[in-house]
Amino acid sequence: MDPTNLPTRSTPHWDLYRRDMFMLAAEQKHPLFSTDPDELERLAKQKLSEGGWLYASSNAGNSFTHRANREAFYRQRIVPRMLVDTNARDTTTELFGHKISAPICFAPVGINKIYHPLGELNSAKVAGELGLPYCLSTASSQSIEDVAEANGANAVRFFQLYSPPDEELMESILRRAVDNGFTACIWTLDTWQLGWRHGDVAASNYAFYKGIGAELGWSDPVFQKRMQERGWSKEKNPVETGQLWIDQVWHGKAFSWNDLPRVMKKWKTISGDKPFLLKGIQSVADAKKAVELGVDGIVCSNHAGRQVDGAVGSLDVLPEIVDAVGDKTTILFDSGIRGGADVFKALALGAKAVLVGRLWIYGMGIAGEEGVRHVMKSLLADFDILMGVGGFNSISEINRSALKYIPYGSSGDHNGGM
Ligand SMILES: Cc1cc2nc3c(=O)[nH]c(=O)nc-3n(C[C@H](O)[C@H](O)[C@H](O)COP(=O)(O)O)c2cc1C
Ligand SMILES: *[C@@H]1O[C@H](CO)[C@@H](O)[C@H](O)[C@H]1NC(C)=O
Repeated sequence: MDPTNLPTRSTPHWDLYRRDMFMLAAEQKHPLFSTDPDELERLAKQKLSEGGWLYASSNAGNSFTHRANREAFYRQRIVPRMLVDTNARDTTTELFGHKISAPICFAPVGINKIYHPLGELNSAKVAGELGLPYCLSTASSQSIEDVAEANGANAVRFFQLYSPPDEELMESILRRAVDNGFTACIWTLDTWQLGWRHGDVAASNYAFYKGIGAELGWSDPVFQKRMQERGWSKEKNPVETGQLWIDQVWHGKAFSWNDLPRVMKKWKTISGDKPFLLKGIQSVADAKKAVELGVDGIVCSNHAGRQVDGAVGSLDVLPEIVDAVGDKTTILFDSGIRGGADVFKALALGAKAVLVGRLWIYGMGIAGEEGVRHVMKSLLADFDILMGVGGFNSISEINRSALKYIPYGSSGDHNGGM
């Protein structure tokens, strides 16, 4: 790659990151680690505590949904085009009125402190730096305020809601999110409680019940009131208060479609009508219902295969959801993205942008902020290079004509276990 070949590209030359990596050889150095997903998994397992590793890697039941997610990508194949002038290609796109540098968001992921002492501050900072939207989980182990500061003044950030049955508490966290520049609310519907994950159960692996990770609650004025009512403080009662908090987050009380208008209205009122999305949609009927009730977007997601075991691959249902409601709402996608080609395939099937979880979680586990940066810059370079060698100039050129569905074969072991 000739570094002086810098034609009129309006977005960063993400591909130059690889050149930087190759150039390290001149100084007898090499990159921090390999970003091959299997390698990421292996290194994260080496580096993390048992609890951190188990929580990051665990799936529901037999991991069949996780496997279905990966196999769905394998069956969609890209048809490259030649002699396309891609010198001025552009990875930017627009999401809810924000210009973003690529259609890739940081998925909401809870308790990042089990991966690195600075937790969410690592990922929020890198997202801001790269111009990619950051989604903060309600199960965050840093406060909303600290995450916003790490993310940066002009960064694009969304708040993922797990809805405490304590309505005053829910209002309080939504208000804090709005006050701190979070410009959309993503209500996660697939996790009123965690799915059955063998390894976590066997190791009694629930950080909050050990007094770890409740910062978002501890820093909340309404939750502080709840602690005081019991005569508790976070210093003296980390375990009791951690338990009280997480039992408001993963509370096991199912909400229904009847609750949707009320929760959405709360956000709309507090935020001054900012976008409200539903995360966890996998059925066409649910997508249609969501649109009827007036949501601004949906995330086609099965929570990385961590909730319903034996479920359909998220990418397998994306096309029918796009066909049903794609012209009426914004559709985001996640579950199983492991490289640039996967981003491409989801966009080609009609997603406006994708969310990425495990890739950067493993990066954080291996090397904190540097690890997150290395993984995400590599993903951007991989995607950018794919557009270059595959003949695609802009995000809007990536559509279904770029794919061929091949229902045969198996992906074998490669990335299959991840
Ligand atoms: C360790 C871990 C923690 C997660 N925590 C949350 C969470 O707190 N809230 C949420 O909505 N989704 C959560 N998710 C789901 C992600 O937002 C996202 O849907 C999923 O990770 C995307 O799949 P991928 O990891 O294959 O990229 C979590 C996923 C993982 C792997
Ligand atoms: C799909 O994208 C290609 C360019 O990649 C374009 O030529 C074609 O018109 C697009 N098709 C539709 C239906 O938009």
